Amino acid sequence: MQVLFKVIRQEQNSSPVVQTYTLDVDPGNTILDCLNLIKWEQDGSLAFRKNCRNTICGSCGMRINGRSALACKENIGSEVQRLQQIAASATPSDAFQRPLDAIPEITIAPMGNMPVIKDLVVDMRSFWDHLEVVEPYVSTDASRVPEREFLQTPEERDRLNQTGNCILCGACYSECNAREVNSDFVGPHALAKAYRMVADSRDDEIESRLENYNEGTKGVWGCTRCFMCNTVCPMDVAPMDQIGKIKQQILDRKDDQASRSIRHRKVLIDLVKEGGWIDERRFGLQVVGNSFRDIKGMISLGPLGLRMLVRGKFPLGFEPSAGAEVVRSLIESVQSLES
Ligand code: SF4
Ligand code: SF4
Ligand code: FES
Repeated sequence: MQVLFKVIRQEQNSSPVVQTYTLDVDPGNTILDCLNLIKWEQDGSLAFRKNCRNTICGSCGMRINGRSALACKENIGSEVQRLQQIAASATPSDAFQRPLDAIPEITIAPMGNMPVIKDLVVDMRSFWDHLEVVEPYVSTDASRVPEREFLQTPEERDRLNQTGNCILCGACYSECNAREVNSDFVGPHALAKAYRMVADSRDDEIESRLENYNEGTKGVWGCTRCFMCNTVCPMDVAPMDQIGKIKQQILDRKDDQASRSIRHRKVLIDLVKEGGWIDERRFGLQVVGNSFRDIKGMISLGPLGLRMLVRGKFPLGFEPSAGAEVVRSLIESVQSLES
């Protein structure tokens, strides 16, 4: 079958350009096979990373038809099928609508959140630096060093399986919305690795790790729970779920005076339990104003409150939800399961 490849090419510090290549391929060919064909037979100047060709090394991360993925994992057949599904759900005026006999187009672009060095090769320095911030090494400094090795039970080892699958490909980091707006946020790959350390029975730095991951918005509280990392991860590491597990460990240890982020989570749950939904008037006062303890926080709420008042959006009263009882029992069921 014929496929048109549209490759977003770019030299460092210059604007991207789209270059097209037509190939005769099999549906079973991977995207990496196709890029190799382009490089070997049509254009030797095209730059991209690759190594194992087998979803092991994590080198070939790139954006394939708009989402970050491994070029050696995705193939032509599944990409074309995906495009057809998108086109089938598009309205007649949508850009996805193309003539039925048009040859399939596959768009390849460099990963996001990292500057381009050349074509599909990005500079991953910030990715590695952010990984380093979570100290991704098991620390046994304070442990008595055993004669031969640190033994783990099968159950203890099983806890590391999912996060241990990470091949550091960068797909999650590339799509992370929090990372896009907050350059301090360490990213989903780093926090998935952070959970791997927290869950490791041999590590003896759990308390200081949790302090570190709890800090400001560089750690777990910077995540906006957009789910993109879970969606794109080729190894099912589910970074957002791992971030949730770290948050839970922090919440189990700290009270609502520890930080605004912790207060935000606890107040939200308390208010929803009480009224079935959030009483916005109390939410701001309790979280930002720390129930009148934080005068600076209270003052910072003033301009927003005034603007809301002027636009008639300030909630003067509060009606509990008719389903408050059901909501409360649902939350309590989940909490009892967790405990
Ligand atoms: S968590 Fe998944 S997407 Fe992120 S770097 Fe690891 S393997 Fe890649
Ligand atoms: S869920 Fe959180 S960590 Fe994952 S991509 Fe979204 S903001 Fe980033
Ligand atoms: S080339 Fe190694 S993961 Fe794709």
